[in-house]
Amino acid sequence: MDKSKNLNIFSIPRNIIELEPYKPGRTIEEIKREYGLNKVIKLASNENPLGVSPLAIQAMFASINQINRYPDITSSLLCAKLSEVFNISIDNIITAHGSEAIIQVIMRTFLLETDEVITASGTFVGFYVIAQARGVRMKLVPLKDYRFDLNAIANAITEKTKLIYLVNPNSPTGNYFTKTEFGEFLKLVPENVLIILDEAYFEFVKERDDFPDSLNYSHNNIITLRTFSKAYGLAGMRIGYGFANPEFIKLMMKVKLPFEPGIPQQAAGVAALSDKQFLDYYLEMNRTGREYFYDCYNKLGIEYIKSDTNFVMSIFDSEDRVINITEKLLRKGIIVRPLKAFRLPHCIRVTVGLPEENEIYCKALQNVL
Ligand SMILES: Cc1ncc(COP(=O)(O)O)c(C=O)c1O
Repeated sequence: MDKSKNLNIFSIPRNIIELEPYKPGRTIEEIKREYGLNKVIKLASNENPLGVSPLAIQAMFASINQINRYPDITSSLLCAKLSEVFNISIDNIITAHGSEAIIQVIMRTFLLETDEVITASGTFVGFYVIAQARGVRMKLVPLKDYRFDLNAIANAITEKTKLIYLVNPNSPTGNYFTKTEFGEFLKLVPENVLIILDEAYFEFVKERDDFPDSLNYSHNNIITLRTFSKAYGLAGMRIGYGFANPEFIKLMMKVKLPFEPGIPQQAAGVAALSDKQFLDYYLEMNRTGREYFYDCYNKLGIEYIKSDTNFVMSIFDSEDRVINITEKLLRKGIIVRPLKAFRLPHCIRVTVGLPEENEIYCKALQNVL
């Protein structure tokens, strides 16, 4: 049967047909196969190179004999732990299969087809895909000096604007907007416009005095997103969480798939939040690794942005140069992230790896250049 002909009868929405699907960082197995390599280093998806907290692994194993049952739909133990750690009421918390799943829930819960969303051109590609799939109009405001231009975003608001998506610190640039900048921005945003503050990299920046921790703002229109995928090393498990006013949480809970996250995920989240030693060790290793990248780029004369995350973005003069460098690194078994899909085709994002991985990467880069 020729399926392509028959599909025409279904009137599939134009935004879905035209949707550019999310392209994740290439996988280690894929590159091993394609280039016939035995060892491949992946520095493309901002995962934790150290692995997972041993407490989280134990908790997942201990939970396995319960997986014949459906999970607790309120994630009560995980929400209780989040409530304790962040000093926030359980009524303000939602959990799901990754913070990206919560972005989807927000878009399904609050948006009408006629609504408009605003974000930066040069931020998390996952949001672009979800907005396009939802079929709403998306305005992309250019970055200014590779930073979120909050003033220009506020100026882009119209009667139709329902939601603004901000990432702080931003991916892929790695920098953050400050308390002062955010305070000024809030004065310009009408209270009926939702603001998603995606803080996927919160753990890496939380010590900065001028970082505007979204939990310190009691505005009803702010929704915070955080994740266990980055600092906690649980990207493969899919656990994220969000904070919002209790009425929003109730609405989102109606729309969210009831049984996410699963039983091992909930157990892993609780244990990961209890393992301060693992987190602190990783954060310190990451800081050292970041400095190593800066040194390497300074020596090689590569322009880069200082980062408060677990990755560093470097800037080149053209997309061709980026394609050339990333392809040559792949041949040497090193996966990094070219940023065309993030609307920065002349830039590359590299995740800070283990010390030996960072060394191999910097040597290979020198070679390639
Ligand atoms: C800014 C940002 N938000 C969300 C995500 C996705 O997080 P999760 O794994 O929790 O869906 C990422 C992952 O790359 C990210 O960089």
